[in-house]
Amino acid sequence: MLLLVFIVADPIATAHAQRDPVEGFCRRFGHQTTVIDRKLYINGGFINYNPLTSDATNYTNTDLSYLDLDHNGSHDMPQLYANLSKDSSIPSVHGGILWGDDVNKRFYLFGGEYTTQQPPADTPAPLWAYDVPRNRWELVSHPPPNSISAVSYGAGVAVSERGEGYYYGGWLSNNSVPGWKGPRAATTGLIRYAMDTKEWSNTIGPDDGIRRAEGVMVYLPVSDNGLLVYFGGIQDPGNGSLVGQPMDEIHLYNIGTSKWYDQHASGDVPDMRRRFCAGATWAQDQSSYNIYLYGGLGFPPDHEAGFDDVYILSLPSFVWIKMYPAPSSNITNQYPHNALTCNVIDGAQMLVMGGSFPLDTKTCDAGDQYGTHGLDLGEQNPGASPWFVYRKNITTYIVPQLILDEIGGEPHGGATRTAPSNGFDQPDLKTLMTRRYTAAARTPTGSDTHQGGGLSKNATIGIAVGCGGAALLAFVAGCCCLGVVRRRRKHRLSRAVAGTGPPGMLDSNNTHQNNNIAAYSPETAAAAARIYTFVPSPGAIGSPSPTPYYYSPAPAPPSRVLRAPVELAGSDGMHELYDRLQYGTPHFRCPRRGP
Ligand SMILES: *[C@@H]1O[C@H](CO)[C@@H](O)[C@H](O)[C@H]1NC(C)=O
Ligand SMILES: *[C@@H]1O[C@H](CO)[C@@H](O)[C@H](O)[C@H]1NC(C)=O
Ligand SMILES: *[C@@H]1O[C@H](CO)[C@@H](O)[C@H](O)[C@H]1NC(C)=O
Ligand SMILES: *[C@@H]1O[C@H](CO)[C@@H](O)[C@H](O)[C@H]1NC(C)=O
Ligand SMILES: *[C@@H]1O[C@H](CO)[C@@H](O)[C@H](O)[C@H]1NC(C)=O
Ligand SMILES: *[C@@H]1O[C@H](CO)[C@@H](O)[C@H](O)[C@H]1NC(C)=O
Ligand SMILES: *[C@@H]1O[C@H](CO)[C@@H](O)[C@H](O)[C@H]1NC(C)=O
Repeated sequence: MLLLVFIVADPIATAHAQRDPVEGFCRRFGHQTTVIDRKLYINGGFINYNPLTSDATNYTNTDLSYLDLDHNGSHDMPQLYANLSKDSSIPSVHGGILWGDDVNKRFYLFGGEYTTQQPPADTPAPLWAYDVPRNRWELVSHPPPNSISAVSYGAGVAVSERGEGYYYGGWLSNNSVPGWKGPRAATTGLIRYAMDTKEWSNTIGPDDGIRRAEGVMVYLPVSDNGLLVYFGGIQDPGNGSLVGQPMDEIHLYNIGTSKWYDQHASGDVPDMRRRFCAGATWAQDQSSYNIYLYGGLGFPPDHEAGFDDVYILSLPSFVWIKMYPAPSSNITNQYPHNALTCNVIDGAQMLVMGGSFPLDTKTCDAGDQYGTHGLDLGEQNPGASPWFVYRKNITTYIVPQLILDEIGGEPHGGATRTAPSNGFDQPDLKTLMTRRYTAAARTPTGSDTHQGGGLSKNATIGIAVGCGGAALLAFVAGCCCLGVVRRRRKHRLSRAVAGTGPPGMLDSNNTHQNNNIAAYSPETAAAAARIYTFVPSPGAIGSPSPTPYYYSPAPAPPSRVLRAPVELAGSDGMHELYDRLQYGTPHFRCPRRGP
């Protein structure tokens, strides 16, 4: 029994620490992340503070914080800092995206749902940018509301080397679209933002108007100008049903030709899921591209609470491989969670961060490693474990044995299985998958000097040209729309006693190599975190004197399955704005703009 004393000298300091995004961290979910120059930025979403047992409030995370990828904190996971500037005029949304621009050292915040206020009517789909060197936010673009709306929980990805941000599908609702009436509805559109020219476009998704949300999209340097890969999530038939997308249905978007492809995958196909996260890496010879996913929420009636697992989709073999829990282990799906983020660092490690835990309302998500868990994509650690501490010197991906077992080759590449087991569904895809793409170097454009403001002259021209272009494109390609628009850290609460971790995690000798490595997994780290949960000792609440705290295992999570939120649109809720936003439906008209 661990019952280790933690004496707090100053109760006021403690109360403050409880709402401190670093010291008082317990959980986060619905946030947005991106990596620029060795820092992983975290914006928006919800945060829970420690102790969760006395305050379960989902606070809006109003801070812009970052993990320093060169500075490890406790448990050898990156240290969190919450000292960047962000005033209250900058939205703190959940379910949006950060599009990172590595060349200009900035990132863009697009979409997402407002939590405590209505979406602003004067800036219907604001695009904010954070300038890293200047530690400053700017409102850089207002796309016209008739063409681009703010969406949430869609599938987004930035292609920094091309200076592009993409966002496919997502929800339109009164939480993101000013004036939206009725129930939420998913979209069919693929939004693109060109960072250097500030041009927006909105083109149709893969299959003529199936509305989707809550899936994922990753970028691969494949074909002539790069490829986007989409899978998972919800299909919204518009009648209130919650329809999952089978995980063997993969949609691919060829950036160079704006053409979508479909391909069926085989292997150990994961259960349908949504609000999960994924990241991509590839063998050094690009003979395989491996997309790793973690967790997510399931669909009723099964797996409603979601997943606590890792699967790999390997391309071009289009085979699914289960990575965690290992089929031979008896680790259970104990801490399913969703609305989290995955960031691949140097192609070799993936930081899985945060999540909402439907089955557990009491325990912190490894609070002292800020809900961050290290997936070692190549299993480059002594025990070949999927989960390991973050190491800044693991900068090269090697293909792990469990993938080699399926696709052949050796750790640096040479895959021998280079086609799907039942062949390519579209012959072009076979050729495209063999082409490797390296973007031409982008020139930094420098920072925007103007802040906010209306449309520039160029922007207005862009709209006019864009509409003509849209009509032409719709006519020629049968593809309906292209709407082009303008262009503290404080001292850590020190532990009273060394080695207070769970058995096998931080023993008194504290050599990680000998530890139970799985302790870094989101599942078991949550279990581990139970032991770190600060619980006021019985009778101490409200005590005016210095409050004794002790580490206590939290009660076991409830065994019943909580109902996942099911709140889809009824067909009568579709109104005019909705029609206008459904690119690919016959309802679309080019937006009419004044002179
Ligand atoms: C916090 O958010 C989760 C996920 O949406 C929800 O299930 C839970 O009820 C919320 N908790 C509170 C106290 O509102
Ligand atoms: C935030 O804190 C870190 C660590 O103390 C420091 O290196 C960095 O300069 C600070 N950033 C800002 C913008 O204050
Ligand atoms: C937003 O939409 C939801 C679902 O239709 C509805 O319950 C809620 O009342 C709406 N909120 C506002 C402020 O209109
Ligand atoms: C909604 O539409 C889908 C697809 O057409 C269908 O499978 C489902 O049964 C419908 N659900 C309801 C409640 O009508
Ligand atoms: C499965 O669980 C049992 C009981 O906890 C344990 O003794 C055994 O070693 C576990 N097996 C594996 C493969 O982890
Ligand atoms: C973490 O930092 C300490 C001190 O800088 C260093 O000794 C240790 O090797 C680091 N751990 C990892 C995994 O990089
Ligand atoms: C990374 O650094 C650790 C010490 O922090 C060392 O043990 C390990 O061998 C290094 N790995 C590589 C691949 O350089």
